[in-house]
Amino acid sequence: MLLFLNGARTAIIPQLLLKKLLIDFMNNKLKVAEMFAGAGGLALGLEEAGWENICCLEIVPDACATLKKNKPHWKIIQEDITNLVAEFSTYNLPKIDLLSGGFPCQSFSFAGKKGGFQDKRGKVFHEFVKLLELWQPKAFLIENVRGLLAHEEGKTFKEIIRTLKSKNYQVQWKLLNSWDYGVAQKRERVFIIGFRKDISKKIDFDFPISHTYKPVLKDILNNVPPSQGAKYPKKKKKILELVPPGGCWRHLPPKIAKKYCGGSYHLDGGKTGIARRISWNEPSLALTTSPQQKQTERCHPDETRPFTVREYARIQSFPDDWEFAGSLHSQYKQIGNAVPVNLAKEVGLAVKKALIRKKEILKVYEPKVSTPIYQPGEFKKTPERSL
Ligand SMILES: C[S@@+](CC[C@H](N)C(=O)[O-])C[C@H]1O[C@@H](n2cnc3c(N)ncnc32)[C@H](O)[C@@H]1O
Repeated sequence: MLLFLNGARTAIIPQLLLKKLLIDFMNNKLKVAEMFAGAGGLALGLEEAGWENICCLEIVPDACATLKKNKPHWKIIQEDITNLVAEFSTYNLPKIDLLSGGFPCQSFSFAGKKGGFQDKRGKVFHEFVKLLELWQPKAFLIENVRGLLAHEEGKTFKEIIRTLKSKNYQVQWKLLNSWDYGVAQKRERVFIIGFRKDISKKIDFDFPISHTYKPVLKDILNNVPPSQGAKYPKKKKKILELVPPGGCWRHLPPKIAKKYCGGSYHLDGGKTGIARRISWNEPSLALTTSPQQKQTERCHPDETRPFTVREYARIQSFPDDWEFAGSLHSQYKQIGNAVPVNLAKEVGLAVKKALIRKKEILKVYEPKVSTPIYQPGEFKKTPERSL
């Protein structure tokens, strides 16, 4: 049609077309499928970063109920990943830009039994890899506990990276601490990011830069909505009442400390998780799936009790209207298993930024359409590693 036009109009039309393409692209969100979705910490963070969630896979009914309650329009697949892989074609799922998920970490975490790759739970990683092969997303995002790095003297992690690379992905990883990303909690998680090799040369990915502002409990536990919460047995409460904010078993009279610590008393290490009361002026220590474990106690600063469900959720940076289904025990477990929403959002923004930058069309228009994700001078860069 352009051939029949002449003069100034011929120059305008390609520009309009380019603009329309750009607008279409901006409206067309990048798509993510979330495996092992749990209560949705990672999925919600990615959505907040602008990703369109096309499905969440999760095996536990309570976690699926949580996802359905909060995101009725999301497609929730209550299934074992093994079955999704086995019957992948029957699910009729659309193409995706990102496959994300934090496979069950109990087998790698320091608190768990460290069964690892030989453990049944470790094998779900291989199902995730099969899904990568079937789906061929542009990128993947894997999240896991710090313990994964050290498992079997690093052999497990090396094997994981080798396997992912062999599936035609360029792979980078970094240990991130949520406290560096607007979360009032010291929680370290390994993030492994891969870009399909056919596009990876055009990709310029950087892990998010840590914030200079680091929130502490007093910044985030204001006006927390009332909710259910666990309680200490009378005997334990009496002991914890002796511990000041920021203190632990060391602040107990020696006789009581010895009795309370039991066998751990003579073990090496600070054991600072035992009889620990968090202070308002520090971030919480990493929340666990159960709020009153002896080795990983996190007592409220003023009141002698564990954090309530809503306090737990705030510490994990879930919004107050994000509801959790199931028993009290199940709610704590879902929250304690989650990736903090703010951390997930930061990583999601970084991956999105890398994929969007790749588009030639945006290179032309970027100065006009993009708003900076990070304010200059607000963040400092941290070193990163890759294998
Ligand atoms: C670490 S949690 C994920 C937390 C989640 N990423 C979040 O941010 O809230 C791992 C989840 O994997 C689920 N899971 C374990 N084995 C599974 C399997 N075979 N298929 C699907 N989901 C599974 C567990 O029920 C658990 O909710």
